[in-house]
Order: sequence, then C-alpha cells, then structure tokens
Amino acid sequence: MFDSKVHILDHPLLQHKLGILRDKNTGVKEFREIVSEVAALECYEATRDLPLEDVEIETPIAKGTFKCLAGKKLAIVPILRAGLGMVDGILNLVPSAKVGHIGLYRDPETHQPVEYYCKMPDDIDQRDVIVLDPMLATGGSAVAAIQFMKNYGCQHIKLMNILAAPQGIEAVRKAHPDVDIYVAAVDPELNGHAYIVPGLGDAGDRIFGTK
Ligand code: PRP
Ligand code: URA
Repeated sequence: MFDSKVHILDHPLLQHKLGILRDKNTGVKEFREIVSEVAALECYEATRDLPLEDVEIETPIAKGTFKCLAGKKLAIVPILRAGLGMVDGILNLVPSAKVGHIGLYRDPETHQPVEYYCKMPDDIDQRDVIVLDPMLATGGSAVAAIQFMKNYGCQHIKLMNILAAPQGIEAVRKAHPDVDIYVAAVDPELNGHAYIVPGLGDAGDRIFGTK
C-alpha cells in the first residue's frame, strides 16, 4: 500500500520568495522570474533521490572515483498555462529533461478540469515524471493530469506545486497515493470560487499578465 508523502519545502529562501509572489503589488516581470526561481529551488529537493554512479575522473592532480548522475531519464510536464512558468527554472538545473505539455483549464462554474491540449515525448512511459503547476486548489487539475500520465504508462510520478490548499492535497493523496507532492506552503482554505486563501491570486494571469 502506498502512502504519498507531502514535502513542505520551508527553506528560508523559498519562504521569502513566496512572500513576494503573494504580494499583490509584485509586477508581472518579477512574478514570472520568481516563479522560475522557486521551481528551481523546489527541483533541488524533488530530485534528491536521483541515483548516482561511480565514474573515473582525472583531476589536474590525480585520478579518482567520483559520482555522477546514473542517467535516469526525467520528464517535466507543466499543466498549461501556469505550469509553464516553472519550466525554465527546472531546465536550468536539469537541462536534459524532456518536456511534455498538458492543457487543462478549470470550468469557472463547476471548477472541474477541461482538457484542451496534450503533447508528450515519445518515450514518456520510460521516464520519471514531475508534473508542474503552481497552484493545487481543489486538486481536480492535478488529479486529472496525473491520471493522464498513468494512462501513458508512466510509473514514477511526482507533483510539484508552489502553493496548495488542504483539499487539493487530500484529493491527490486519495486518487494517487503513489505520488509524492512537493510544495512551498499549504494555506488554510479555498474561497467560494475555489481560489486559495490567502494564496497569491490567479497564477496564470499573474505569470502572463492577462488581468
Ligand atoms: C489554475 C492552476 C491549476 C488549477 C488549480 O489553472 O494553474 O491548473 O487552476 O485548481 P484546481 O486544483 O482546483 O484544479 P486555471 O484553470 O486557472 O488555468 P490557467 O493556468 O490557464 O490560468
Ligand atoms: N488557480 C489559481 O491560479 N489560483 C488559485 O488560488 C486557485 C486556482
């Protein structure tokens, strides 16, 4: 029986940057840059279990046996739109990762996810997958995106968010108990429009300047 772990990444640098994201006066340029930086810092933790192997390296002084990544294949899968804001920060750390895209939006009335786009690397079923979305609110989008990846045959999936509500975490844990969640903070509740409170507003609009 799986029991997914929720990794709340309370590093001071992350918490400081999250405060800037929450501030309604933070402009689109800074918001976008900080989403990317937060994703990179979270990636550092989410990749902590990557396997290493021994390699022979000759330094300018002597030969030795050292560690390098064992070539595990990674894919990151942003949920459009807002997940796109996390991609560059992660690719800066893991440049060989492939990128799949899932387009989902929440129906404003029902809050249910509606799929409108999907494009995956050919070998996605052989890759470890990190699904990216800054916001985990009701959890509907993340639950659907993870199910999507499972339907593609993916077996090792992690979810990376910036902010979550308890409902979203519970929904993912219930539907996908094999998926670990990485998040910088869990806020107390959702409002009547299923927005996270106090949250940071609409992540997609703030990344792309659409409102
Ligand atoms: C936001 C967010 C998540 C979803 C979270 O996307 O980026 O995908 O809502 O809510 P949930 O946990 O209740 O499903 P939105 O639907 O606003 O689309 P956008 O990224 O295109 O703005
Ligand atoms: N989507 C967002 O962008 N923000 C929220 O608070 C909830 C869902």
